[in-house]
Amino acid sequence: MFAHILYGGDYNPEQWTPDIWEEDARLMQAAGVNMVTLGVFAWAKLEPEPGRYDFEWLDQVMDLLHAHGVRVDLATATASPPPWLVRLHPAILPVTVDGVTLWHGSRRHYCPHNQDYRKQAVDFVTRLARHVRDHPALALWHIDNEYACHVSECFCADSIEAFRQWLQQRYGSLDALNETWGTAFWGQQYGAWEEINAPRRTPSSVNPAQRLDWQRFYSDSWLACFKDQKSVLRDITPHIPVTTNFMGFFKPLDYWEWAAQEDVVANDNYPDPGDPAWMVRSGMVCDLMRSLGNGRPWLLMEQAPGQVNWRQRNLIKRPGQMRLGSYQVLARGGNGIMDFQWRASRAGSEKFHSGMVPHVGTDSRVWREVKKLGEELPRLDALLSSRVQSEVAILFDWKNWWAFEQGDKPSNDLRLLPLIEALYAELFRRNITVDFARPDADLTPYRLVIAPHLYLMDDRAAKNIGRFVADGGTLLMTFFSGIVDEADRVLLGGYPVLLRDVLGLWVEEFVVYLESQTNQVETTEGHRFACNLWSDIVHPTDAEVLASYREDYFSGTPAVTRHHFGEGTSYYLGTALTKDGLKWLFEHILEDAKVRSSNAVSSDVEITRRSDGTHTWMFVLNHSNDEANVELSQEGMDVITGVPVKASLVLEPKGVAIIQLDKT
Ligand code: GAL
Repeated sequence: MFAHILYGGDYNPEQWTPDIWEEDARLMQAAGVNMVTLGVFAWAKLEPEPGRYDFEWLDQVMDLLHAHGVRVDLATATASPPPWLVRLHPAILPVTVDGVTLWHGSRRHYCPHNQDYRKQAVDFVTRLARHVRDHPALALWHIDNEYACHVSECFCADSIEAFRQWLQQRYGSLDALNETWGTAFWGQQYGAWEEINAPRRTPSSVNPAQRLDWQRFYSDSWLACFKDQKSVLRDITPHIPVTTNFMGFFKPLDYWEWAAQEDVVANDNYPDPGDPAWMVRSGMVCDLMRSLGNGRPWLLMEQAPGQVNWRQRNLIKRPGQMRLGSYQVLARGGNGIMDFQWRASRAGSEKFHSGMVPHVGTDSRVWREVKKLGEELPRLDALLSSRVQSEVAILFDWKNWWAFEQGDKPSNDLRLLPLIEALYAELFRRNITVDFARPDADLTPYRLVIAPHLYLMDDRAAKNIGRFVADGGTLLMTFFSGIVDEADRVLLGGYPVLLRDVLGLWVEEFVVYLESQTNQVETTEGHRFACNLWSDIVHPTDAEVLASYREDYFSGTPAVTRHHFGEGTSYYLGTALTKDGLKWLFEHILEDAKVRSSNAVSSDVEITRRSDGTHTWMFVLNHSNDEANVELSQEGMDVITGVPVKASLVLEPKGVAIIQLDKT
């Protein structure tokens, strides 16, 4: 889609005078910037009064950028409605679950169901697109910004009415809705559509099926806003790709549905630089982005060049940290590195958020690092069409995430992401790349599929997973999986009823632990590991027991099992194992599944590969503050330095090498 690895950032020139624009364009060129995201919050500047447009400054900026070889990812600017729009239509403002109106004076202050907002946004985007359609700098459309950030749902009358319509579409009849939502319980039987409300503040917990549908509905609602604009842009500028920026594992939006609407997946990533596991978490996000686009190259749309301003304590990125995180994006299938923002603001909420050009200007560490990266990236253009291949997939489904974490469970301390992170970390430190996949996706490319807390499971998913194992795949499923259907109704017949044959077991009951409580599991080889949180009481039918509990009334019953089903094997993990236990388990599973780990050097050295069918590049990223010695199985050439690489490689602290491997 693009001829170069993209490099740049959010550019908000409306904060600066034209003489600074000139300097910006010169500096961008000096830093190797080839793309900026322009005008994200500029609606009020571009339409200062209803129907009066001021595109002159935008033209000047775009001309200037074009003259300096910088292309434009033009934002549609609808993420911050102008104050006049609020004055004319105060009902656009979002309302919280407690009925509190959220006012303007910040950003993202609109309800996606307000028709005045929707109409004004479409009118504005139509004007903007017509105005810029032939501009040579226009390369990409950036629709709105971080949909559902700050305000993910609105409880105004328009939203509730739209919810009723959405439900009518989904269920057709009240009988069907009543049946699916299980309204016979707690006397919730509905006799008219108008009786149905949003899941507002209620005396006790709201009907879980209602809440789950509301989350589906709200993800669809934001997507409808995106589609409004996309269809305008497709009509006026069919040659320009469209995107919007995601926020990693962001719960309110089902990004599988969203990514299908985008020409290129883009993501904003702001790991906490003080988090010792930041590279693992960021790696997981990168892998999700690649997976959302079915392996297609994706873009890092925003990261901080230094520190952010919105945490309680905003740690700075240490020397080399920004570069390392940037290369991780490329190592995991990304083709662009963009920052927020180009020049640090002097006013407004984000004035202490770092910029590629800091307040102190170019005599600064951040600028030197920005420039160095900009000098290096063009050496990687040969990688543009290469892809990352994975043999392992983790099943991830937003509906399941919503249902799993909505309360009223045996333990309401179970969370999906911590388990996924723990499992992912086992693979990450062995340098095994992971895809994320929908439970009903084509699983044939994988040797190993992991299903963590797949609580909500429909028939399609269950059949898909069963087929995968029957055809020779290896499955790892964890506790509290396969419990409910798509409406959060329990699947009766012994959990997880749809996969009992595949796993060779059934689960009778769930034992929840106090926070201070642990148990022990003992493997058949005699190893002992601690476990906590939860234990399933498992009855094997055909499964073989690999480890059993040591304590409590269920001492001696299975904690970990294995079952050969068809041509494949399924593992079941009925408890939360601590790190050493997971390590033991993965050693078994990976060997069984014949998943190779590429150059597992140490947990501080990350290694991935990209291939285009002709060439393979190996990325080696040293996360540590010490030198790393890496033994290589193949020789090649480091494309950043141009230096040949023989059997081993010494990487400086936070160092990166990208080796084009010799053909063997
Ligand atoms: C993002 C947002 C940007 C900027 C950035 C700061 O959420 O899209 O506009 O606010 O955070 O880290």
